[in-house]
Amino acid sequence: MKRIITFGTFDIFHVGHLNILKRAAALGHHLTVGISTDALNYSKKQRYPVCQQASRAEIVAALRCVDQVFFEEALELKREYIEQFEADVLVMGDDWAGKFDEFKDICDVVYLERTPSISTTELIEIVKEL
Ligand code: CTP
Repeated sequence: MKRIITFGTFDIFHVGHLNILKRAAALGHHLTVGISTDALNYSKKQRYPVCQQASRAEIVAALRCVDQVFFEEALELKREYIEQFEADVLVMGDDWAGKFDEFKDICDVVYLERTPSISTTELIEIVKEL
């Protein structure tokens, strides 16, 4: 039984999010997803997500490929989360390539290619222009 963990904001849920979650799930038997909190997003980007954390978590938790969600409160807690959820594999999008190699002592670290031409930031820009 191989346990996978991944992290993200998953704001304005789109097909790039779905693709990475499906591919992450296919690497094992159980997928845990850390949903970054509104406060964590604010501290990283100086803006709140469009959708609140409870809604973002509810959407991700409803997906067939996802077994469990939790709130990621702080970036510095990644190691603790990997251990707490007993993950064998950490999956991240390749926008983070190399950035999580420090966890290779406790799990496999896999970077998956992002889906081209879509992101939450781009969607916000497109809607603003309408
Ligand atoms: N992701 C992906 N392909 C995309 C967009 C996102 O594979 N086109 C992945 C990211 O690499 C990450 C996860 O989805 O592993 C959650 O990403 P998130 O940052 O929440 O979404 P983005 O659309 O990248 O948001 P933003 O534009 O705000 O950075």
